[in-house]
Amino acid sequence: MRYDFAPMEGVTTAFYRRVHSALFGGADRYFAPFISPTSDHLFTPRELRELLPENNPGQTLVPQLLCKSGEDALWAVRGLADMGYEEVDLNLGCPSATVTAKGKGAGLLRTPDALRELLDTVFAGAEVRISLKSRLGYTGTEEFPALLELYNQYPVAELILHCRTRQELYAGPVHYEAFDYALAHSRAPVCFNGNLFTAEDCAAFAAAYPAQGAAMLGRGAARDPALFRRLRGGPPASREELRCLHEELYALYREAFGAVNGMRRMKELWSYLLCSFSGAEEIRKRMFRTKDVGIFEDCVAAAFRELPLRWE
Ligand SMILES: Cc1cc2nc3c(=O)[nH]c(=O)nc-3n(C[C@H](O)[C@H](O)[C@H](O)COP(=O)(O)O)c2cc1C
Repeated sequence: MRYDFAPMEGVTTAFYRRVHSALFGGADRYFAPFISPTSDHLFTPRELRELLPENNPGQTLVPQLLCKSGEDALWAVRGLADMGYEEVDLNLGCPSATVTAKGKGAGLLRTPDALRELLDTVFAGAEVRISLKSRLGYTGTEEFPALLELYNQYPVAELILHCRTRQELYAGPVHYEAFDYALAHSRAPVCFNGNLFTAEDCAAFAAAYPAQGAAMLGRGAARDPALFRRLRGGPPASREELRCLHEELYALYREAFGAVNGMRRMKELWSYLLCSFSGAEEIRKRMFRTKDVGIFEDCVAAAFRELPLRWE
């Protein structure tokens, strides 16, 4: 099974991917969190920092676009191809209200004409592989067959399915029956995404779907950075490795964004990493209440000093 690291805005940044791939490895591919090209047809300095290949060493990276306009998306696809990328992913799943209100992300799932315009333009002009990361529908799973029929009209490199609707955000059970439907009816290979949090979850999934080629892991991999390595039979993360992940990433963020913003970015990661420690509730409360860099650093030091790792 191929295991890819899901895009996670605010978490799997270029700095994170660089440190993660060097320390833990194991993810077959990383998907970059979306960029949102505009009609300016210019990559911003932030987008270049995130996506320039020299800022993403030691990994196979797939950039992702969050776009409504086919013309803007195609411009970005071409720009990314010029940087050397061989595949670009289109985000058809972001459930955030500010995104869907603009008709982007999962918002496209309820406007079939806009979705078709986007896909027509991108697939007509793209010279690289285009994958789609989609949900099952906007409101209900009964929308999925028509969506899949639309996707089947294009040479989609891979359909990555987050097996929920937009209304379900990231909570509740995933719809395996819709994944079964996709496996039976999709022309493109289907990559499963949703709630595979641990090596045990992945083993159960692989046992239930022995012919399945690919899965994408998000929150589970953010909580346990060694998850991909464990899936290859490697050891769990050691305390020392987690400390290195924290220190290297914090140093990069502080240098790039200053102490307070560096701390804010690290807190995003720690909201997941703390799940790898037992009994972290008190430290979690203190860490997320504070705006003080010194107190944040004390919380990190206390977690490493006092809390057992779940697998210890
Ligand atoms: C904080 C956060 C940021 C995310 N950012 C993106 C994104 O930029 N692009 C995208 O396609 N999905 C994004 N997702 C969705 C994940 O890629 C993934 O589909 C989701 O977490 C479900 O997988 P999981 O159950 O393995 O976590 C994000 C999810 C979270 C929780």
